[in-house]
This record gives sequence, structure tokens and C-alpha cells, in this order.
Amino acid sequence: MGKGFYISKTLAVVGILFAAAAVATIIALAVVYSEAKSTNKETIKTSTAPEVTTKVTTQVTSQTSHPTTSLPPNYIWNRYRLPDSLVPISYDVLLWPRLEPDMHIFTGNSTVIFKCKNATNYILIHCNKLNLTKFGDHYAIISAEGGSKDPVILKSFMEEKTQYLVLQLQEELEVEKSYRLFTSFVGELADDLAGFYRSEYTENGQKRYVATTQMQAADARKAFPCFDEPAMKAVFNITLIHKDTFHALSNSPVKEVIQTTIGGETWDVTSFEPTPKMSTYLLAFIVCDFGSIQSKENNISIGIWARKKAIDEGQGEYALNKTGSILSFFESYYNVKYPLPKSDQIALPDFNAGAMENWGLVTYRETALLYSPEISSIGNKERVVTVIAHELAHQWFGNLVTLKWWNDLWLNEGFASYVEYLGADNAEPEWNIKDLIVLNDIHRVFAVDALASSHPLTSKEEEINTPAQISELFDSISYSKGASVLRMLSEFLTENVFLQGLTSYLTAFEYSNTVYENLWDHLQQALDSQTEVKLPETVSNIMNRWTLQMGFPVVTIDTRNGNISQEHFLLNRSSIVNRTSPYNYVWFVPITWLKPGENEKTYWMLDKSEIVNSFTTSGNEWILANINVTGYYRVNYDPENWHRLQTQLESDHNIIPVINRAQIIDDAFNLARANYIQSTDALNMTKYLSNEVEFMPWESAIDNLGYYILMFDRTEVNGPMQAYLRKQVTPLYKHFKNITENWNKVPTGLTEQYNQINAISIACSNGLTECRDLAVNLYQQWRKNSDNNPIHPNLRTTIYCNAIAAGGEQEWDFGWEMFNNASIATEADKLRSALSCTKQPWLLNRYLDYALNPSKIRKQDATSTIVYIANNVVGQPLAWDFVRANWAKIYEQYGGGSFSFSNLIDGVTKRFSTTFELQQLEQFWKDNQHIGFGSGERALQQALERTTANIQWVSTNKDKVLKWFDDNKL
Ligand SMILES: *[C@@H]1O[C@H](CO)[C@@H](O)[C@H](O)[C@H]1NC(C)=O
Ligand SMILES: *[C@@H]1O[C@H](CO)[C@@H](O)[C@H](O)[C@H]1NC(C)=O
Ligand SMILES: *[C@@H]1O[C@H](CO)[C@@H](O)[C@H](O)[C@H]1NC(C)=O
Ligand SMILES: [Zn+2]
Repeated sequence: MGKGFYISKTLAVVGILFAAAAVATIIALAVVYSEAKSTNKETIKTSTAPEVTTKVTTQVTSQTSHPTTSLPPNYIWNRYRLPDSLVPISYDVLLWPRLEPDMHIFTGNSTVIFKCKNATNYILIHCNKLNLTKFGDHYAIISAEGGSKDPVILKSFMEEKTQYLVLQLQEELEVEKSYRLFTSFVGELADDLAGFYRSEYTENGQKRYVATTQMQAADARKAFPCFDEPAMKAVFNITLIHKDTFHALSNSPVKEVIQTTIGGETWDVTSFEPTPKMSTYLLAFIVCDFGSIQSKENNISIGIWARKKAIDEGQGEYALNKTGSILSFFESYYNVKYPLPKSDQIALPDFNAGAMENWGLVTYRETALLYSPEISSIGNKERVVTVIAHELAHQWFGNLVTLKWWNDLWLNEGFASYVEYLGADNAEPEWNIKDLIVLNDIHRVFAVDALASSHPLTSKEEEINTPAQISELFDSISYSKGASVLRMLSEFLTENVFLQGLTSYLTAFEYSNTVYENLWDHLQQALDSQTEVKLPETVSNIMNRWTLQMGFPVVTIDTRNGNISQEHFLLNRSSIVNRTSPYNYVWFVPITWLKPGENEKTYWMLDKSEIVNSFTTSGNEWILANINVTGYYRVNYDPENWHRLQTQLESDHNIIPVINRAQIIDDAFNLARANYIQSTDALNMTKYLSNEVEFMPWESAIDNLGYYILMFDRTEVNGPMQAYLRKQVTPLYKHFKNITENWNKVPTGLTEQYNQINAISIACSNGLTECRDLAVNLYQQWRKNSDNNPIHPNLRTTIYCNAIAAGGEQEWDFGWEMFNNASIATEADKLRSALSCTKQPWLLNRYLDYALNPSKIRKQDATSTIVYIANNVVGQPLAWDFVRANWAKIYEQYGGGSFSFSNLIDGVTKRFSTTFELQQLEQFWKDNQHIGFGSGERALQQALERTTANIQWVSTNKDKVLKWFDDNKL
């Protein structure tokens, strides 16, 4: 899945600055909450994962009452994992969605042919929220293939908790024989964004409906009964019934369309070619009256689908132009042909994740696929091309070769999150987009992975059972840390070796399933087959230290004596890590480094501390390590070396590679948060910014200062802090004003365009009058003539925000009207975020109410809207009150299939820094135990840890920081 549950990267700078707010632990709390958590786990475990024994079978046979009441805990249907007795071979699935205003259901029937691998007299097949038709006394018809005797069903029932249809048979099924199971069913075509669901939109004043799917992780069972685990690969023959004015799409090309008359009406029956052997979570089927554009490249039919109006306006062209070349890029990168004859991509008005890599029919949020040169910003364009690259990367890695179980999800998502940069770089070679992984993934996930409550990339298979446990894995550790360590691996193996191993892995396991060790094995073979690259340890020994233990090291280099040492980096060094590590938190670290005027070298650190003579320096010579941040670790130095680096930045910053200028800032701020260095030392690293025009260092500084802003924008530090930022940003603002000829031209590069946005955003939000006037005037011009928006798409997010912040009801209402009229989702999103910038509490409260009203704000956007409001210093307490007051409703209406609870909890609590707020948070945790927190459970624990750490940080740093800003503001 795409990273849709992260708030859009480029929307992150919205007038106010905020950090990927980092965190820490305090001992007592960590213990309390991890206990609470492990108790929960225990309860789940004992009731859901019992051993299957023959004794169970006899107990069952003698059971007379309905089995869901008063059962002993150890029936096989109380386990979340399927038994290994049956394996599906193929399915014939027919589905008939009704897309009428007053009827939101689908009917269907399905035949699955499966093989018996171990004798059993139970058939368990996943089935959720479907009403099954009874045939005689039972929910299914079973027959034997190849002339054997048909099994006789004794009993059939639905087990709701574990989502099974259970059939108990009179006699055991025979090993190696195949059987055929038929079911017929009715389901609700709900607007719940999960399984087979309904999306709605308005076109030409008319309400339109789409029937579409989102199966990952465990919702294929909501569309038809199936063996719904990734390793249960099978061939699918899908048939859809629909009106002839609608299109039917699925993973495979259409095989035939026949017309039929049902109840006096004519319907099309579209059947699709059999799919290759594939996992259920990658299925997709869609009925819609969208438009499309098509092309054929490399013998692959490519289609882009969206609302007719969007297609007519050309919003699909960019995606169509890039898809063919991205597919060819991945064909040559993997050295494996694209496995399917076609590739369709479709933009849906309602979609929960960013995108979903269904094999051959990728689904997207509109903002992740559609692009309009006139209305979209460069950030929108970057998002489109990276999300496409991400999903297309999965067509091989993930779809052709699939991880056996969800516990290895990190490898699938981490891999796609890494190579999306390579695919996007190929599509937009001028952009230097590969550098951005450092800001977007590495720095971002460092913040989470530096907490005592973090977790290793790898989970044990037996620990991941329930759908909620599976959803919880879709987090930044899986995506961004996964991407970071795979990039490191590819760098130290060299891309040649990496690719050779990758190709052999994909070829060896095509159409089947793997565990992560299989990839290490194939990379090792590739390494062993050549002599140029040598590693001090095996791939598996090196990688285990990055995947089996959580966190990452800080490497400290003492240039006075060549001492180097490594330590698990924790934002709060007094926090207690409850997880034991098999490697005692020591890593094998590839240290790349350089000195002024020298070439980059690599040193492998294998111990906790070592002495390396070449790491000593003399005179003004500095050392810089982790060049281009190819390694997943932070670097600290002795004070002299830090000082020499600062001096170098202030005299000639271009001597230091631009990615490392961003790194020095990010490392310094985080080392200060963890008390390795003073916070004033970190602030010193921002002094040179008055001469810096590059995006990456600025963005890094903004992210880190965002924490200071969150902690201090309600205190007396705010005045001097704003004065300092205003002073630092003024030259940047002038620079862009100059090169854009008074904001009339667009800078050329991607990152230049981004930094122009930063310049305006920081200048305006820190009270540079000239900037505010610019925003207010441009917005005013637009209000006078709403058909002619004078604001360049790149600048809209920040200009809208600052104008609405400076204005009142009229400005807000105009923004709201434009939001409702927006014909492209990216424009609507910009307005939706800008509307949260008003300083009027009543407007913010009204907006919060809108957020939970699906006729005003789409369900998919509810949580991010609330988070936008909480980002505003005025909106923060309002959003928190609102979430507390409405938790039950939010949980009930937005809980199903939603991955965004953790964002919500994070978002509304990240400013918390007082004891009073900590108490409120604990109360919230207690008060809602009976409702639960779903996938937000971990986020809530993190919020508790973070608040405690914030309280401590503010109390030790406030006076020093106030003085520093006072001393440096002029
Ligand atoms: C499945 O449903 C369709 C449509 O209602 C029907 O035409 C077909 O006969 C059914 N298949 C079976 C095997 O009953
Ligand atoms: C099922 O059969 C496989 C071999 O086909 C065997 O390895 C496995 O142990 C069996 N499982 C059970 C529960 O008997
Ligand atoms: C399924 O059955 C329940 C109980 O009879 C009923 O309330 C519900 O409406 C049915 N769902 C559909 C989609 O027909
Ligand atoms: Zn993905």
C-alpha cells in the first residue's frame, strides 16, 4: 500500500512549522503501559491461538449446542490463522453490485476448488459480513472433484470473531484429493472503504456511484468467502454484472462481455481472463462510469481511469506519460518482465490509503494519480510520480513474489518505499529526487525509532494474528526504516551485487511466497559470486542487527584520539528499554567518512568501541561521517570537531555536501534533545542559514525548529524566536523574490521550488510584513475574481493559509466555497488545509464539526482535517476537546479499515508539554478503555511518553533557549 496514511509530505509546511515531533520515555509510564499492553496480548493469545489436537475434533463432534456459545477456548476456529490442511487452487467469483440511489448491496456466488493437504473433517474459510444463502440446512454446497464420493456436511456456522465460515463434515477429506465449495451471498455495499465498497461523487449535478475494492490486509473475505491469507495463492476467474453504461475492471483483461436480461432489464456480464496465481489481498474489481485514456507500450496495455470530467480536463495525462517508462525502468531494474498483459490505474473519489498495488489494477486517491499543470503544484506532481513508482515497484516485489505472512510486511513496504525514489528519478531525472529520501524517510523515522517504545522491523509470525495487529504494522518503521536499511544495504553491497541478488530472488520465487531470509540468501549468493566487493560479515549477520533489534546507533567520533564508540540512540537516555536485543544493541556500522579535500572512505565498525588512527585530526581539519546519510545512524563528535564544522559552515558551507548540511542540523538537534550536546549548540548550527539557499538544510532546520515552535509558541519565548527566524529567513525571501522577478517566475529545480515555498511560509508565519501583505493581496485579488486565480499552484497552500490566518469570516467562507467548487482534489486539499489556519476559535470549532459530517468533509479526510486544526496554536485545544468529546463516534464511524488513528492521536497531542495535559491524556486513556483505540493504541502510548519527555525538556531548556534567541535575534 502507498503511504497515504502519512500526511502528505509537501503539505507539511503550512504557515506554521511543525516537527515530525519527536519523543522520549519516562520509566514509570513505560512500565505501566507496556504491562497494560502485554496483558492485552496475553488475553488475545490464550483465547485465539490454541493448539489444534485430535482431542479438539472429538470434543467438537460431541458438541450439541451452537458452538459460538460457551465454548472451551481451543477450537480451531478460534485461531486467527488458517489451519494448513486445505489449499485453494482456483476460484470462480461472480459479483453483482447494485449502484442505485436507494440500494447499496451486492449479490454474488463463488466456487472455490481446493486441495486437501492433511486429512481433516473441518473446512474453515474466511467470510466476513456476508449473508450466506442456505442450501437445505447449510451455508454451502460441497462436492468432490474427479468422481469421488461427495462429503456430507454435518453442521455449518459463522464464527464472527475470527471471521470464518466453518463446515463440519461427517468424514475426513482425503489427502491429495480436490473439492469444490459453492456459496451464494448478499453483502452491503457500504461506504466503509474496505472490502467491496461504494464511493460517491457528483458530476453535472448528479450523484454517481462506484463499486470498488480495498482488500489489503484482510478484507477480501468481505467480498466473497476465501482463504484470505497472503500465502494462499490461487487463480481467480472474476465475473461482474453491471449496466452497459458502466465499465467493469479487474486484475486481468476482459475475456468476454455477454448481455443478459434480468427482471426485464438488460445487463452486461463481463468476465475476465484468469489471473496468474496470486494472493487475495491483491484482488480488485471495480464498476464505474469513469472515463479513461489508454496507450500501449512494450506490449503492455496501459490505462488511466478517473471521473469523466477529470479525464476530459487532461488530469490523467501525466500519469499516462510516466507509467510506461516507469514500467520499463523496473523491468530493467529487476531484470524480470512485467508479469501481466495490462496495467490499469484508477483514481477514486473515496479511498483510505494513498494507493493500493492490486496486481494490474492499482487504485489511488485522486491526489496521488491526477495532475493538472494549471492547478497542481510541483509537490502534487512529485507525489503522483513517487506514488506511481511505489505501486508499480510492488507489481514484482510483493505481487509476483509475496511475503508469506504479514509479520514481514516491512520488507515489502520498505522495499517499495526505497525503489520508488529510483523509479521517480528515472521519470524525472532533473529533480535529484533520490536525495529526498533522507528528509522524507530517514530523518522522519529516526524520530520514532529513537523511542523506547519503538519496535524491531521484524515481528515474529506468531505475534501477528488479528486484523488489528496486522494494521498496526503499516507504520513508519515498516515503510521508512525499511526503506532506509535497504538503501544502506544496496549502497554497501553496491547496486550491481544488490540487483543480481534481487533478480535471482524474484526469479526463484515467482508466483509463490517467501520469508525475508530468502532475500538475504540470494544477495549472499550474488556477493559470493564476485570478488570486487567484500564485506566483513555475511549479509544476514549484518542485516539481522538492523532488523531484529529496534532503534539505531549514535556513533561518536573523538578526533582528539581516534576513539569511536556506538550506543543505542534514545531520545530520552534515562528511558528503560523493555525489549531485550539478541545483539545487545550493537550494530555492524558502515562508517563512510571524509576530511577536507579528501575522498570518501568506508570503515566497518563491528564493536562497541574501537580506536581508529585515521579518525584523528589536527589544526582546523574536521572529519565528517555518514556521507550523504547512506547509513542508518547518527553521528556525534568531540566539541572541537563540532566547532570546526560550524566554522566551516559559516565560512564556506559548500565544502560540505548538501545532504550532510541537512544531516549536521538534524543530528545536532536530536543529540541536543538527548542531552549529548547543548540545545544552544544545536541552535548554533542554524546561524549559517542566513547564507544558505538550498532546500535540504532549510527543511531540516524547519523540521527541528518545529519542535521549539510546538513547545514555545504559547510562551514568552515566542517573541524572540519569531524575531530570530524572521532575521534568518529575510535573505532567503529576498533571494527568491529576486530570482522570481517579484514572484512572477517559477524557479527551475524541484528543490528550488520547494525552498521558495519555505521562504514564504517561514517569512509570513514569523511576521515579515511584506510577506503578509503579499499573501493578503493575492488572496484579495482572487476573491474579486474567483474565476481567475492569480496565485501560482506552488504557492497556494502557503498563501491561502496566511491570508486566511490574517482574515476573518469572509476570507474563510470564500475559501470554503472554493473548496466545494474545486474540480481537482489537490486544489481541494490545499484549501482544506488552509481553512485550518484561521485564528478565530468559532470558525475552527465550526470546521471541526464539518470534519465529522461526511456531507461536508469526506470520511477519508476527516482525521487529517482534525490534525490540521490541531497544528494551529489556536486550534490545538479545540481539536483536543473535540476528539475527547467525540471519541466513541470517531471510533465507531471511522474505525473500520482505517489506518489513520495513530495520525489523529499524534496530531492532537503533539504540543502537550504540561503536567495538566499529561493528566488529561491519562484520563482519556482510562475513560475510553471500553471503546478502545484500535490501530491508535501504540500512538497513544507514544503520546504519553512524549508528553512526559516534553515536560522535562521544557523545564530544563526554556531559560537557555530564551536567552539564546534574545542574544541572536538582531
Ligand atoms: C450465480 O449467480 C448468477 C446471477 O445471479 C446466476 O446467473 C448463476 O447461475 C449463479 N451460479 C450458480 C452456479 O448458481
Ligand atoms: C500436514 O501435512 C504436511 C505434509 O503434507 C506435514 O508436514 C504437516 O505436519 C501436516 N500438519 C499436520 C497438522 O498434521
Ligand atoms: C443480512 O442479514 C441481516 C440479518 O437478517 C440483515 O439485518 C441485513 O440487512 C442483511 N444484509 C444484507 C446486505 O442483506
Ligand atoms: Zn506499498
